[in-house]
Amino acid sequence: MPKTIIVSNRLPLRLQTEGSKMTLTPSEGGLATGLGSIYKKGDNLWVGWPGIALKKDAEKQEVIKRLKADNMRPVFLTESEIENYYEGFSNETLWPNFHYFNQYAIYKKRYWEAYQKVNQKFAREIKEVAKPGDTIWIHDYQLLLLPEMIREMIPDSNIGFFLHIPFPSYESFRILPWRRELLMGMLGADFIGFHTYDDMRHFLSSVNRLAGFGNAQGQVNVKGRKVLADAIPMGIDYDKYAGIAAAPETLDREKRYRASIGNQQLILSIDRLDYSKGIPQRLKAFELFLEQYPEFNGKVSILMIIVPSRDQVDRYKALKEEIDLLVGRINGQFGRLNWTPIHYFYRSFPLNALSAFYRMADVAIVTPFRDGMNLVCKEYIASRLDRKGVLILSEMAGASKELSDAILINPNNLNQMVDAIHEALTMPEEKQIKHMEVMQSSIKRYNIHHWMDLFMKRLAYIKKEQQNLVTKIIDEVAIKKIITSYKSAQKRLIFLDYDGTITPFFFDPKEAMPDDELKAIMKSLTANKKNRVVIISGRDKDTLSEWFADYPLDIIAEHGVWLKEMGGEWHTITTLSDKWKRDIKEVLEDYVSRTPGSFIEKKDYSLVWHYRKVETGLGELRTRELTSHLHYLSVNKNLQVMEGDKVVEIKSSQINKGIAAKAWLTKFESEFIMSIGDDWTDEDAFLAMPKKAFTIKVGGTRSAAKYSIASPIEVRGLLKKLMRT
Ligand code: UDP
Ligand code: G6P
Repeated sequence: MPKTIIVSNRLPLRLQTEGSKMTLTPSEGGLATGLGSIYKKGDNLWVGWPGIALKKDAEKQEVIKRLKADNMRPVFLTESEIENYYEGFSNETLWPNFHYFNQYAIYKKRYWEAYQKVNQKFAREIKEVAKPGDTIWIHDYQLLLLPEMIREMIPDSNIGFFLHIPFPSYESFRILPWRRELLMGMLGADFIGFHTYDDMRHFLSSVNRLAGFGNAQGQVNVKGRKVLADAIPMGIDYDKYAGIAAAPETLDREKRYRASIGNQQLILSIDRLDYSKGIPQRLKAFELFLEQYPEFNGKVSILMIIVPSRDQVDRYKALKEEIDLLVGRINGQFGRLNWTPIHYFYRSFPLNALSAFYRMADVAIVTPFRDGMNLVCKEYIASRLDRKGVLILSEMAGASKELSDAILINPNNLNQMVDAIHEALTMPEEKQIKHMEVMQSSIKRYNIHHWMDLFMKRLAYIKKEQQNLVTKIIDEVAIKKIITSYKSAQKRLIFLDYDGTITPFFFDPKEAMPDDELKAIMKSLTANKKNRVVIISGRDKDTLSEWFADYPLDIIAEHGVWLKEMGGEWHTITTLSDKWKRDIKEVLEDYVSRTPGSFIEKKDYSLVWHYRKVETGLGELRTRELTSHLHYLSVNKNLQVMEGDKVVEIKSSQINKGIAAKAWLTKFESEFIMSIGDDWTDEDAFLAMPKKAFTIKVGGTRSAAKYSIASPIEVRGLLKKLMRT
């Protein structure tokens, strides 16, 4: 039975050694609880680093054995790997870049090399355990290269990837020297999940600009393989947090804590030590609040928990010192014998204690500069069984997209934070309840189980799409079949699209004239009297007439507007009107004047707006606007609007390649029929072909064709083989 392998840099546990004693404590993080229902089942597995460097083999063996019992498998890192891969590339290069702290980012070759090496190490570990059909779910920025590495080792595997931190805008991401490698690494996955739509679109924009792969509704065509990106915000185990908040032990704790802390209002602040969390700004806002509202002195305290994290990294060390100083300054200035403004803890607490804190807090304040999601604020909401309490939340946290009923603030705006603290502390209970209920129902519904199910469903969906896709990739057996049929036929009809099919796609379409190799192919293909060759293209008739003047062949130009048999004259299939062109041209001209680099091509019965040379992104944006504009205008005009590769074409709906091809199929009955094309205008031709025809799509997207072939090079190879028979 196929299994699921979860992979993350850190295993969901903490390993500690004291002398020869080794303790393994399960971690309480959201991911561990959520994925617990997966990795603990059957043969499923969680692969990751146990958190410390072990040198002795005996110790490693002991860890392997103990973890195996819990369906985990360790990846051991050496001290140098921890320094260069974990602290270095992951947390001094990627973390600051992805959180828009580029001034903190360090680019070192040795970090990058270690990052590649450790990702390889993970890949080897997976290879040891993975079987075909298994699902491999990789987590977070420490393992961006892993999907591609696994794809190379196990090509058919189901690979999901989830990024738990923000994906930065292209303008930040492009700064990374290894940006393309990192993107290609991620694109090894089948499904890539993000917390927010912004992260997803930033990723897709970088993929477009740096790797050259566009997308349609989040689906990226990576050299013939479809990869899906989507936003699925991670939730928490709501019932677990609500359950613990109701447990008698938690109530006891709450009573004890209350007794020692006093009766003042309480603001809760919980974070890992991290400069992305905006902790000093929060403290400064509280300081300003105490200054501006002296009536609250002695009446409100902050309970501030900072969980130690990455404390070997300089920036984190410096942050710790800054926080210590600020807390000391504020407590020193405002504190009284019977009142401490900030209760500060630099350590982590077990879930029971956290739950008691969540229950006690009148206000939770979560003010990161950037945060992929932020689970603390969701845990606070789930723990508020009395439905009271106020959340102050930074609009820069992924969670803010779901929690619009919180008091949303910009962490760079100190005055806004001060006002928010005042508003929160004075908010009437009915209002608190009204907002809390809305947030609770959302967090309850979009919980961790929902997130996990959705992730797996999206992964299964894209795998199915990939299978539906094509259309068998053309192989030796298929080629043999085509050759045999070709050989035995006395009459053959061969439809060939031009751009992207028998000639590669050119940046400048004017450069696409037939080269010597193509000329030789056309010469010999058309010389055979059994062959009737039809060039079926979107190009204008004059260009095609000129390029193919030397060969006895037929031409269908402008997607089926103009038809010409060898030796005959150009004619149209029906009486076509082009009266609509004037109105539409006016619209297109407006788009040209707003979009530098774009231009209009005028064909006899169609108009084409080209945006190949327009700034990436702008052309796509204008296309969406233009097509909806045109769809509206074209309803009564019997026109169709077709989007091609960097073009939008408008033409009469009485025309397409299929209608034109049918005229040939009826007139020239043949035993061997073949149609080759690369874009969606060729789909009409494929659909018009009889069952026995060999329909071949160039490139890997979904198609009505029977076979797919990689590129024009292979198409030429196939044609040469046919001619040799
Ligand atoms: N947490 C904990 N003990 C503590 C403080 C926090 O277990 O003393 C947990 C908290 O419950 C939450 C996680 O740490 O599940 C922090 O996740 P979040 O998404 O808020 O921030 P991250 O650390 O992932 O940036
Ligand atoms: C964030 C990251 C996780 C990471 C966690 C703790 O939540 O998204 O990948 O595991 O912080 O950081 P650490 O460096 O201690 O693993």
